[in-house]
Amino acid sequence: MKISLTVNGQLREVEITPYTRLLDLLREDLGLTGTKEGCGKGECGACTVIMDGELVASCLVPAPQADGSEVLTIEGLGSRDNLHPIQESFVETGAVQCGFCIPGMILASKKLLDENPHPAEEEIRLGLSGNICRCTGYAKIIDAVMMAAEKMDGRESDQDG
Ligand code: FES
Ligand code: FES
Repeated sequence: MKISLTVNGQLREVEITPYTRLLDLLREDLGLTGTKEGCGKGECGACTVIMDGELVASCLVPAPQADGSEVLTIEGLGSRDNLHPIQESFVETGAVQCGFCIPGMILASKKLLDENPHPAEEEIRLGLSGNICRCTGYAKIIDAVMMAAEKMDGRESDQDG
């Protein structure tokens, strides 16, 4: 079957089976390998993407359900030469170790900051509670989200002014 969906702002048509997962569509059919597969069971958050404004575990979403949807993956957030402030903050605070959890962490952080531009530490912990990191102990990830909130706030006021 063929479905069409918008991925990172581009309309894509993809031939899939009824059993294809959104994760496979992204990684295998579209080559967007920034989205990772950890547990494959909806528990680790490595495969997190934003679909129609909601965080989803793409390993649990049957690709046919994504027909007509809008999906944002880590590749759509920033580029190597033009990092999103959340990406910059993860780099600057040293929150990235092996990096495997980071695309999902960053998309979960984006969703959190879109809804709550000035989160308290507890709110950050809650917002990222679906994403597991085996390396960092989370402290630097929390620092990164705090820094991103400040950067995004600053950039918005610059634009206002
Ligand atoms: S790979 Fe999807 S939640 Fe772990
Ligand atoms: S940086 Fe390695 S799992 Fe998070």
